[in-house]
Amino acid sequence: MKGISILGSTGSIGIQALDIIRIHRDRFRVVALAAGSNIDLLEKQVREFRPAIVSCADAGAARELRARVSDLPGQTWIGQSTEGLERAATAEEAALVVGGLPGSTGLLPTFAAVESGKDVALATKEVLVMAGELFMNRVAERGIRLLPVDSEQSAIFQCLQGNGDSEINRIMLTASGGPFRDASIQDLQRVTREQALNHPRWKMGPKVTIDSATLMNKGLEVIEAKWLFGLTASQIEVVIHPESIVHSMVEFQDGSIIAQLGATDMRIPISYALAFPQRIASGTSPIDFPQLGSLTFHEPDAEKFPLLKAAFDSLKDRSTMPIILNAADEVAVDLFLSEKIPFHRIPRIVLEAMDRVDPAQVETLEEIQSFHESVVERVMKDWRLWIEPGGQPR
Ligand SMILES: NC(=O)c1ccc[n+]([C@@H]2O[C@H](COP(=O)([O-])OP(=O)(O)OC[C@H]3O[C@@H](n4cnc5c(N)ncnc54)[C@H](OP(=O)(O)O)[C@@H]3O)[C@@H](O)[C@H]2O)c1
Repeated sequence: MKGISILGSTGSIGIQALDIIRIHRDRFRVVALAAGSNIDLLEKQVREFRPAIVSCADAGAARELRARVSDLPGQTWIGQSTEGLERAATAEEAALVVGGLPGSTGLLPTFAAVESGKDVALATKEVLVMAGELFMNRVAERGIRLLPVDSEQSAIFQCLQGNGDSEINRIMLTASGGPFRDASIQDLQRVTREQALNHPRWKMGPKVTIDSATLMNKGLEVIEAKWLFGLTASQIEVVIHPESIVHSMVEFQDGSIIAQLGATDMRIPISYALAFPQRIASGTSPIDFPQLGSLTFHEPDAEKFPLLKAAFDSLKDRSTMPIILNAADEVAVDLFLSEKIPFHRIPRIVLEAMDRVDPAQVETLEEIQSFHESVVERVMKDWRLWIEPGGQPR
């Protein structure tokens, strides 16, 4: 029985991981759950899976949950915030930690899981964007298994199985193109929050959904893939594939291209990460190929979606540019979701931050976290000046 800890249990990744575990009760046992403030759902999960450790966003949520589940027999430790996340990430009985926290929130707990020797099923791509080199070094030193959950990275990981250390020419990350694939640059200026949150293929949390609409998500995946698979930026291509059936491809030195195909359903990569190297039932429906008809591919529009190129650019030197890109995007997406800026200002704020914030020398996890926080602070202080007419000259 494999003990599983889920960070972000009430989110899209967490809920789908629990769906798989529910199908395979004989194989997996939930030992820890960490979530934010959706106490109604967390209470249901605690009642159903009876984990030993539970973490909530803050003390108020933890108090409320403790009161709600006080009738349950046995001891459940219920904590909060940094300490709670760390306890969940390092739970003694966990063999595998599912990293499903959004953005920079996932950085410290995911490192904590690796440090304590847990295998990690990683959805939080921002960990690799912010601290790729350090993270991969710690993974190698601790000898743990790092199993990608992002569907594209899982596809590449699956394509690599059984190919030894055969040389890779290039990988092709596929992208649906998001809800504005066919919109014009002018259309993007009138996009509403609801339209941007309505992804045509995937149902995900708000941050990653908005990132998918700007193609920033694909940019973050480019950086993630570089670290996960030890590639250079020139070995990574992005291809728009609206049907979202081919989840990514690897071209080897002999010219063979191996792709992974499947339904547009995150339960496939999640189940693969949970049970690796075995494949287990994931509850997904089969694809009807004649009904599907054709699979199409085309190049992304760099002018309409400048953040994809920005992510490639951020890899040009070994500085902290990916941290700046990521931190500025977190602030800009929050501003858009709280309706303080229109959609087309998200890329502008990120590009301005990349232009204006000085990169730094960072080596340790503490330095990375602190640099990230300093960029967030700077962007929150200055974004208006950067985007409003008559703002600060460069
Ligand atoms: N969803 C997908 O299909 C998908 C695919 C590939 C990669 N990913 C990546 O996976 C990660 C998670 O995405 P998601 O779509 O699952 O996000 P989501 O639906 O927004 O879920 C986020 C989860 O994290 C919890 N959380 C948020 N802030 C927290 C905090 N400060 N402390 C503790 N818990 C906190 C939320 O709790 P509450 O809701 O209780 O507040 C929720 O359980 C992202 O990095 C994303 O890029 C997602």
